[in-house]
Amino acid sequence: MRVLVSGGAGYIGSHTVVQLVAAGHDVVIVDSFANSKPAVIGRLEALTGTHLPVHAFDLTDRDKTERLFADESFDAVIHFAGLKAVGESAQIPLEYYENNLDSTFSLVRAMRRHGVKLLVFSSSATVYGDHAPLPFREDYAPLVSTSPYGRTKVMNEHVLTDVAHADPTLRIGILRYFNPVGAHPSGTIGEDPQGIPNNLLPFIAQVAIGRRDKLVVFGDDYPTEDGTCERDYIHVEDLAAGHVAALTKLASTEEPVSVWNLGVGQGTSVLAMLHAFERAVGRELPYEIGPRRAGDQARSWADPAKANAELNWRTVKTIDDVCVDTWRWQSANPTGYED
Ligand code: NAD
Ligand code: WQD
Repeated sequence: MRVLVSGGAGYIGSHTVVQLVAAGHDVVIVDSFANSKPAVIGRLEALTGTHLPVHAFDLTDRDKTERLFADESFDAVIHFAGLKAVGESAQIPLEYYENNLDSTFSLVRAMRRHGVKLLVFSSSATVYGDHAPLPFREDYAPLVSTSPYGRTKVMNEHVLTDVAHADPTLRIGILRYFNPVGAHPSGTIGEDPQGIPNNLLPFIAQVAIGRRDKLVVFGDDYPTEDGTCERDYIHVEDLAAGHVAALTKLASTEEPVSVWNLGVGQGTSVLAMLHAFERAVGRELPYEIGPRRAGDQARSWADPAKANAELNWRTVKTIDDVCVDTWRWQSANPTGYED
């Protein structure tokens, strides 16, 4: 298939591009580089051994989006583009709602005008809110989230579901990611957060490389085995494979809209993750216990059974793989793509 990958220069998009090419798809990237670096493209071309056409513009620009679809033909769209920092979304909510919703409106309008039927959308476990029973299942309702960022995902899911029901020739796959982590085993592409990392793994990696003094563990008095929060950390390579599988499924399903959890199905605590990283690095890493972070849930993990069965997909990477691959990427690229 000829696949338009929005946000293909970003963390998850870039890893998915590599697997799409390996699976025989033609990839075209559209990215504004709002949260990524053009340098990733050369790395992707080296990894895939192919030229990757890139369109550098903001998808909230409907005219440019329309022009792209008028100039080129696509069989499918994978829509990763979006702003994703939970804390920042509370500071600049309007920018989050505009970016994360308008980009979808532009893309779906252009798809409908040009007869493109298949869409994969990046959603998040954040749509399960604070009250869903563990493990989180796709049929849980109502969807709620505690941040403006998360609410853009809830809203996008509703918009896409309505659009698919109104036009049952569409095939929309909504993928709810749990906690994406890790890097390509080559160490040439990985997660490159701007400024102080918000997420656990990039923070630990920067402690290990000496860019941060120590990890602050946000609370050790949660009702979990070691008192620290538990999350479903999914290797980005497994996650990328889930997108290739979803695309294959969408090409044959009769369902206009399908929702799949992409997770491992088990929780790992903050301290267990830190200790796995210490094993990968071969030394102890400094940390201290700090107060809880507002908004954190004690435990979150997926029931991945629906994706396992319907996508013929399952995770194969371990937490140790995550840490080894993250460390390879971090040590080869201490300041990310800036080198
Ligand atoms: P990322 O920031 O690395 O990648 C997103 C890419 O989209 C960036 O390259 C950015 O420049 C681009 N972009 C943003 N707005 C754009 C716009 N309006 N037009 C064109 N390009 C635009 O993020 P990621 O971690 O790769 O996440 C990809 C998707 O997955 C996002 O939608 C995110 O919300 C979702 N998601 C991420 C996580 C996670 O923890 N990383 C978890 C769940 C869901
Ligand atoms: C993981 C655990 C922290 C940093 C977020 C978004 C979610 C999704 C994935 C997009 C928590 C603890 C962290 C640190 C710590 N993104 N931690 N010290 O919050 O589960 O999920 O990313 O959709 O929507 O909310 O991930 O990596 O921030 O935190 O102790 O310096 O690590 O308290 O328990 P989270 P995270």
